[in-house]
Amino acid sequence: MAFRPMTSTANGTLRVCAPSQLGKRLATVHEQLAAFCPPISRVAVALLDPATDQLHSFLHSTRGDNPLPGYTCALDEVPSLVQIARARRARVQNDLPAVQGGDSEHGRRLLEAGYRASYTAPMFAGDRLLGFLFFDASARGVFTPPVCARVEVYAQLIALLVEQEQASIHTLTAAIRTAIRFGRFRDEETGAHLLRMSHYAHLIAHHLPGASRFDDERMEFLLLFAPLHDIGKIAIPDDILRKPGPLDADEMARMRTHVDHGYNLVRSLIEEFELERLDHIDMLRNIIRYHHENFDGSGYNAGLAGTAIPLEARIVKVADVFDALTSVRPYKRAWTLDEACAYLETESGRQFDPACAAALVHNRGEAAAIRKRFTDLSA
Ligand SMILES: [Fe+2]
Ligand SMILES: [Fe+2]
Repeated sequence: MAFRPMTSTANGTLRVCAPSQLGKRLATVHEQLAAFCPPISRVAVALLDPATDQLHSFLHSTRGDNPLPGYTCALDEVPSLVQIARARRARVQNDLPAVQGGDSEHGRRLLEAGYRASYTAPMFAGDRLLGFLFFDASARGVFTPPVCARVEVYAQLIALLVEQEQASIHTLTAAIRTAIRFGRFRDEETGAHLLRMSHYAHLIAHHLPGASRFDDERMEFLLLFAPLHDIGKIAIPDDILRKPGPLDADEMARMRTHVDHGYNLVRSLIEEFELERLDHIDMLRNIIRYHHENFDGSGYNAGLAGTAIPLEARIVKVADVFDALTSVRPYKRAWTLDEACAYLETESGRQFDPACAAALVHNRGEAAAIRKRFTDLSA
């Protein structure tokens, strides 16, 4: 979602920049709420990543600067949110400064941005915790019982909209993941590789400079879609896919067709599931279609170069290669992080988008944490 930081006066209008459908709906809900109760100056959604139990900021509608761009935290480090989720009930805080020194960076940043009261509600899809909704106000004591009654209705509406979108996306990604699980992929191309590379991709997107940095919503879709990059390999014959040694020229040419196979497969799935209407579905197509392009134009299948390659594909390329380098293969040891980073730097501008390579190299500590987190599952 790309709600820009907006005008900072209490009565400033909400300004929306390139919003998704869901983002527009959130803004509409916010406008209606603010008309009823003007101090409510922020409505935000954070989603839970079930692989890591981390919360990621996802969507927001904010009057003034967004206090939490690209915010991520471990759910279990915020006991108050754990409690809200367990109780499956909203929490009202009508005097945030009085609870300053609470349990989160999130609370601290809200206070610094001038928020004085909050209403926080968990979002569930059945028994699964999807994330949280935050309604923040610029004055103390805003969330009176009548206001809470109104907010609760809107909270349920937003939760429903988020759940519907998530359900559509999860139907698609679950279908593809099932194909991967039951396909004849090599072990190193399933499980932990997909978790690691998608989280490396998320890390890169988060650290891209300036205007190219992904907004929170796109980062979530990147995390969901990156593991599906090689789905086309289900169409590659076993003798090539599982060949222990290097491929000859003919075999390599056939292996490369996994890009087209994947693209055609996902295109027909999107049609069948009628998912064309979904925001960001292009990211999925782009990742599958362009993840073997090289920044200098020497890759395949399209031979695109530079920024003609969609950014999500340039990110996935770096993340995918980085994980392959730092993982054991039957024919090679796992490279150290330093060795892999040196390779990214050498190939920066050739295979890799320099900005994407630098985002990973300069944040190798976070990359190391991802590698460690998903090591137990690795080959
Ligand atoms: Fe591939
Ligand atoms: Fe891969």
